[in-house]
Amino acid sequence: MPNGHQHQHPTPPENAPQQRPAQHAHDASPAQVLDLDAEVLAEHLATVTAWLPVQTAPAEILDLGAGTGAGSFALLRQFPDARLTAVDSSAAHLDQLRAKADTADLGDRVRVVQADLDLAAWPDLGTPDLVWASASLHHLADPDRALGRVHDLLAPGGLVAVVELAGLPRFLPATATDERPGLEERCHAALQQRQGEQMPHRGADWGPKLTAAGFGHHDRLTVEVDVAGTLDNAVGPYALAVLQRLRVAAAHALPVEDLAALDQLLDPTSPHSVLRRDDLAARTTRTVWAARRARDDTPVTATTAGRTAERAPAGWFSAAVEAANCDRVLGHERHGIDTLLAGGDATTTG
Ligand SMILES: C[S@@+](CC[C@H](N)C(=O)[O-])C[C@H]1O[C@@H](n2cnc3c(N)ncnc32)[C@H](O)[C@@H]1O
Repeated sequence: MPNGHQHQHPTPPENAPQQRPAQHAHDASPAQVLDLDAEVLAEHLATVTAWLPVQTAPAEILDLGAGTGAGSFALLRQFPDARLTAVDSSAAHLDQLRAKADTADLGDRVRVVQADLDLAAWPDLGTPDLVWASASLHHLADPDRALGRVHDLLAPGGLVAVVELAGLPRFLPATATDERPGLEERCHAALQQRQGEQMPHRGADWGPKLTAAGFGHHDRLTVEVDVAGTLDNAVGPYALAVLQRLRVAAAHALPVEDLAALDQLLDPTSPHSVLRRDDLAARTTRTVWAARRARDDTPVTATTAGRTAERAPAGWFSAAVEAANCDRVLGHERHGIDTLLAGGDATTTG
């Protein structure tokens, strides 16, 4: 492990301008990062989909912000008779998802829909009995409105599952690197500062938001992930891809010494490359909230408002259901499960 033998980096002259964010042609694309995430955390993601408190196996699944399909394919495996609609604003992500579905002979079970979920009008997404949104709602400008929509389009008795990240995974020991101990933590602190401004809902507690959207009760699962890097798994390439993105996003706030140390880690030809380390591990925390739409809320709400339409407008419907039904047990345990699976027993991706 070359960690103890890093080069001395020349000290920049005082008041020297900070290095600009380095973006190299070989940097991983967002789709590649999602695929590496899915590969490293596949086993843990399967644990999460197995945990979902569905009452009967869903026939129609909706994956909101599906990306390249990490959750979609885990759900299709978990529920082999289900069909799935994958929604994303990125055509590139959906193309990859479509190609993977075809390769895996799952094409006839998958529909892809390109849509911006921030827009007021959503395309027809059917009446799913399971809606899955992993690491996607925090990208939206108004996730509360989106959750209200989800509530209203779910089949009565259907389940929504929201997966949230504690942040990007960590890979290095806290003491790394020898020259710049604590380097990774400083990168994350810089990133968090920026994300706090640009993505204020990242890391949100989705429980109260589900309640506000009309769901009366939720279960929650928190999963600690710790996947050791080995020669034959994807932890090294995943670390490289995530650190590349961190470097770009956090460069504005890091001292040049940190950027130089990062560049050593990111240079595959360097003896200090992250790909040559034997002390990597993908560590993160994922939390899943699952909530059910009441089986009987449609007639109650429509009657209460004197409406004839089967389906009320989004927002109005959620507010009315909250007022009328929020204290009901939604065919599930009244008290949430708050499970902590430690030590790599379970995981999800994002
Ligand atoms: C971090 S990725 C998560 C992908 C996938 N759910 C997973 O767990 O691997 C977030 C995804 O949300 C999509 N997204 C972001 N904003 C969106 C929007 N306004 N409408 C639809 N999709 C959006 C992105 O294109 C990206 O694929």
